Amino acid sequence: MGLFELVRPAIFTMAPEPAHELSLKGLESGVVRVPPVPQDNRLVQTLAGLTFQNPIGLAAGYDKDARVPDEALALGFGFTEVGTLTPLPQTGNPRPRVFRIVEHKAVINRLGFNNGGHEKALERLKRRGGQSGIVGVNIGANKSSKDFPADYAAGIKAFHGLASYFTANISSPNTPGLRSLQGGQALEKLLEIIFTAMDEAQETDCHSPPVFLKVAPDLEDGEVAEIAEVVCRSRLAALIVSNTTLDRPGTLQGHVHGEEAGGLSGAPLMEPSTRILAKFRNAIGTAKPLIGVGGVTSAKDAIHKMEAGATLVQLYTGLVYKGPHLPGDIVRGLIRHLDETGTKHISDMTGSKTADWV
Ligand SMILES: Cc1cc2nc3c(=O)[nH]c(=O)nc-3n(C[C@H](O)[C@H](O)[C@H](O)COP(=O)(O)O)c2cc1C
Repeated sequence: MGLFELVRPAIFTMAPEPAHELSLKGLESGVVRVPPVPQDNRLVQTLAGLTFQNPIGLAAGYDKDARVPDEALALGFGFTEVGTLTPLPQTGNPRPRVFRIVEHKAVINRLGFNNGGHEKALERLKRRGGQSGIVGVNIGANKSSKDFPADYAAGIKAFHGLASYFTANISSPNTPGLRSLQGGQALEKLLEIIFTAMDEAQETDCHSPPVFLKVAPDLEDGEVAEIAEVVCRSRLAALIVSNTTLDRPGTLQGHVHGEEAGGLSGAPLMEPSTRILAKFRNAIGTAKPLIGVGGVTSAKDAIHKMEAGATLVQLYTGLVYKGPHLPGDIVRGLIRHLDETGTKHISDMTGSKTADWV
């Protein structure tokens, strides 16, 4: 039994938010450490001009304020995504607003983009300077904003020189109206504003980070087709599928927290989010790479995401249940899988079973 398994019962007696804060402090202080994670050329991929040492990333929401990007990378992640960051600090929704559903390895959250705003995160990212490692910046809009697209443009301008990549998050279920940016016309308008901001920022800083878009899993086939069409015509470099779901699978029925409002993440999201991922792969083909997120708690899950169409994979809730060894365990599992199946490179798996998932 590892250290995390020993301390997990004690951590789970704490409410989720203090437990999360404790884990951030553990990383900041250097107390949380893991054995070195192997490097393997068969896991290295280049996407949008960035070279990923392995395909497993930390999803947005864990390190909202860019407190531990390098410590997260040191756990063995091939990349990390800080945020969602909004221009102004905001406290989010009233507590309690995060709920563990332990029996299902799931979480429901309605945090509502609690974060310290651009300025503080900017200072932290400036302090890490030009250290290596891929650190994406996930940007969003303030709840009180009268102009959501302008908030995304502000994010681009603020972090242009520091972000390895941007993610425009239009899929949080906890900011009223945000998901309406996924509609064809609204999305087109948003992307126009984002890429105008990119062009303006580039005039003073020749760095040009790629922009990814993060979508919800709660989409009808027509909406998938509409988003895919806009994405294909756009300058977006990749699509992240998916955020948390508003849906509640029948298996959660009767659970004390099963009906809490908010976005569901973790194991019950694996299947629906992978199905939507495969649908996007079908609609987009190989024109734009996909990043698969939702319910990944093992190497097997990561392999399923790639077979369904993902080039890279992200996770968050898996960390809550499996602990800080998870990224390393998944990387080791991927290497074992390549050895056992004689697969030459991880990219050979991408989209190999899309049809099975659709
Ligand atoms: C507590 C919590 C907070 C989150 N906050 C954000 C966020 O700020 N921005 C974002 O794009 N996604 C956020 N997410 C969604 C995750 O990045 C991810 O898309 C989702 O949880 C599915 O992956 P998972 O099942 O591995 O957690 C959050 C998820 C959780 C559980």
